Parts: sequence; structure tokens; C-alpha cells
Amino acid sequence: MKEIPDGYFQLAIIDPPYGIGESGKKNKSRSCLAASQDYAPYFGGDRDAPPPEYFTELRRVSRNQIIFGANHFISRIPFDSACWIVWDKENGQTDFADCELAWTSFKSAARLFRFKWHGMLQEDMRNKEIRIHPNQKPVKLYEWILTRYAQRGDRILDTHAGSASSLIACYNLGFDFLGFEIDKGYFEKARRRLEDEQAQMRLSDYTDEKGRVL
Ligand SMILES: C[S@@+](CC[C@H](N)C(=O)[O-])C[C@H]1O[C@@H](n2cnc3c(N)ncnc32)[C@H](O)[C@@H]1O
Repeated sequence: MKEIPDGYFQLAIIDPPYGIGESGKKNKSRSCLAASQDYAPYFGGDRDAPPPEYFTELRRVSRNQIIFGANHFISRIPFDSACWIVWDKENGQTDFADCELAWTSFKSAARLFRFKWHGMLQEDMRNKEIRIHPNQKPVKLYEWILTRYAQRGDRILDTHAGSASSLIACYNLGFDFLGFEIDKGYFEKARRRLEDEQAQMRLSDYTDEKGRVL
């Protein structure tokens, strides 16, 4: 990140380790509604959230930030916000959290996104996403965020890309992006997932900026 110029990214959407030990091993035993799978734990084992210096650096390189899991480490950010995002995962009878929270640097109202995401159950079962990462978020969640909080032409940063869902959403909606992932195993899986998506045709490749077919 030190090599990135000040304010280079218009928006950072990040989902770092929360520091709660959710790196994959406990998934299966905690759900009684739909089968969940265990995953190889990722680098660092979700033992700690990034330090305050990371958040200072994030604010230097990006004009706006959306930070998932910030309810676990708000003291490291540390700024008030009225504009949190709530993702209701509709995951029923489990001891996983009912929703995930993202702190944002925006000045608008708090917003709710409802999208079932629980083990094998997903909101959009006809376009089910293959899960490759223990903390994988739906591409649809990131598309919803980009549609509301990014402007056409924005550059998007995700410093903890995991499964690359955020990057796939950027690709689908035509945003330039940069993603980092420190875990070699998950990096390779995410790279393959992203490349598979990029091999597909997109509607935006065949329409102009007003959505007209070329
Ligand atoms: C909560 S997960 C991200 C999940 C992602 N949002 C998704 O939808 O798949 C956090 C990820 O950050 C990665 N990570 C941890 N420390 C990192 C670091 N210093 N640099 C880059 N990635 C890191 C972990 O390996 C893990 O894959």
C-alpha cells in the first residue's frame, strides 16, 4: 500500500480478519439449518484485525471506505458514522451472527441489504455461487454496494480479497479494481475464480455508457 499514491482509489471496500477466530474450521458444527462445510484456515487464522496504522494508510490511499466487520474493531478506525451497511443473511437457527455490519465513510443514512447466505442455501439458488472461502460474501452484495456507493469510472480497492467476490462484482459492473490476498492457497483459488468469470461474456461489453446495445 505504501506504493499507492494518495487518494488513488475512489473507494476501498474491505473485509479484513475480524479477530474472532472465524477462519474456517468451525463452520460445520455451528449450523443446524443447512449443511455448511469446513475450509482450510487462512493465513493468520483470523486471530487479529489489522492495526490502527493500516486504517490510517487505507484512508490515505482511498477517498471513501466501506469496512466490513468494523463492529469488532471500531476503536482502530476510529470515526463515528451514521451510514453503516447492514447485510441481513437470513441465516435462521444458527449461532452465526444474524447480520454483518460495515462501517462507511459516507454521510448518508444506514442501509439494509437482505440476501440469504447460509451453508448450501442462497438467496439466488438458480445462480448459486460456488463457495471456495470460509468468509466468502456474495457477489450480489458487492454489486449492490457498488451500485449505490461507487460512481462510473471509480477505481476500487480490496486489500483482503479472499474469494475475489468483490473483484468479480467490479468486473461485472465495469469498474477498475486492485485486490490483495496474502494466503497463497486462497489466492490461487480466487485467481482461478476471477479468471473463470472474466472468460464469460458481459452485457456491458456490448453496451455503451447509457446501456444501449452497440
Ligand atoms: C474475511 S476474509 C475476506 C473474505 C472476502 N470478503 C470474500 O468475500 O471472500 C479475509 C481475508 O484476508 C486475508 N488476509 C489476512 N491478512 C492479510 C494481509 N495482511 N494482506 C492481504 N490479505 C490478508 C485472509 O487470508 C482472508 O482470505
